[in-house]
Amino acid sequence: MALKNLSIVLFALVAVSQTNAFPQYGSLGGLKARQEVDEPSSPLPPPPPAPPSFTGAKLVDDEDHPWMPLQSGDIRGPCPGLNTLASHGYLPRNGVASPSDMIKAVQEGFNMETQAARVAAYSAHLLEGNLVTDLLSIGGKTSLTGPDPPAPATVAGISNHGSFEGDASMTRIDAFFGDHTVFNQPLFDQFVDFSNRFGNGFYNYTVGGELRFHRIQQSIETNPQFSIRGFRHLTAYGEAAFVANIFVDGRKTGADAHHLDMDSALSFFRDMRFPQGFFRPSSPTAGEGADIIFAAHPTQPGSNNGAVNSFVVDTSMGGLTDPCTFYVQFVSTTIPALYPNPTGVLRRNLIINLGFLYDALSPPNCPQLFPYGQN
Ligand code: HEM
Ligand SMILES: *[C@@H]1O[C@H](CO)[C@@H](O)[C@H](O)[C@H]1NC(C)=O
Repeated sequence: MALKNLSIVLFALVAVSQTNAFPQYGSLGGLKARQEVDEPSSPLPPPPPAPPSFTGAKLVDDEDHPWMPLQSGDIRGPCPGLNTLASHGYLPRNGVASPSDMIKAVQEGFNMETQAARVAAYSAHLLEGNLVTDLLSIGGKTSLTGPDPPAPATVAGISNHGSFEGDASMTRIDAFFGDHTVFNQPLFDQFVDFSNRFGNGFYNYTVGGELRFHRIQQSIETNPQFSIRGFRHLTAYGEAAFVANIFVDGRKTGADAHHLDMDSALSFFRDMRFPQGFFRPSSPTAGEGADIIFAAHPTQPGSNNGAVNSFVVDTSMGGLTDPCTFYVQFVSTTIPALYPNPTGVLRRNLIINLGFLYDALSPPNCPQLFPYGQN
């Protein structure tokens, strides 16, 4: 089935070749020379961290990574995975990190598959990070990412609604209704209810298929500004799979694998905390099963047009089943809208980060685009 292939590409269940770890770097010689002339003090963004050498299950709720409650000023956001990693010190506890930090942390703490980790980190960074300082907030906007580039760039952190963050989240309300970044108890109650009804008390792909569809229907019926297009279409299905793949203790096998108990779910979603003694998954994983979740009730990308119950399909930005259109749209429209005329280090780093994203995404039959040239 074609969708299976696409979700494999997008969330890269394939074994990652070590040789792909530094694919872009060969071409950066010219950039380096230019940088030395232009702004000698600004280091090149480092190449993506390589996959770890050991990728089996292991205790990650360990002595070196104690959970700690939030301190004043610590930033958290809509992603239970990144929130948990920050609260255990796999990421800086203040919630501000480089894309490389994030890739290392999600690989180490959650055994997130390398290509998927890179797609998530570089897309988030290109949309809402500071490309000069190489820092990104896992929540809202902060001066800790350094001086902002010129508007219309936002550099507002991954919480910013409509770029990476989107509607119909499982445990967060739509931005139209209020704070879309924080845990929402009634939505978690619904998560539990669906897990009881369709998973015998556990969250699995079957529950994911029903809950993902239901959250989309809820938003169509209540949020006049509901949108699930392009990247959000892809992440909404991917994240519903992450829950069954990444939040389940890596020692579980057979019928217990990909079945998440509700205490563990609450620990991640609300408390940003590994269940006590948690082992990460036993092999690298990400969106495996997104195809099953989609197939339960396939919903095309689209949005309400200003009124509730007015959902119109809109595939112009791609989505789960069309990663090439997502890529083309992202590179030729979304990013240039934020950065119409970048110069110097900013332009150089846009080129480099867009290269990292393309290498990680590698959409099939989809040539790389260079909106800012190649060096
Ligand atoms: C660099 C890596 C990652 C980035 C940049 C990232 C970013 C995000 C963002 C922006 C959202 C909000 C989307 C929305 O619901 O509107 C999100 C949601 C989510 N993320 Fe992550 N994430 C990353 C890794 C992970 C990992 C390792 C996990 C582990 C399971 C994870 C699990 C989730 C889940 C389950 C949601 C959906 C929450 C919900 O629907 O209530 N993410 N992530
Ligand atoms: C999820 O759990 C339910 C209840 O045990 C079961 O009927 C269903 O087959 C499971 N789904 C998957 C994909 O394993």
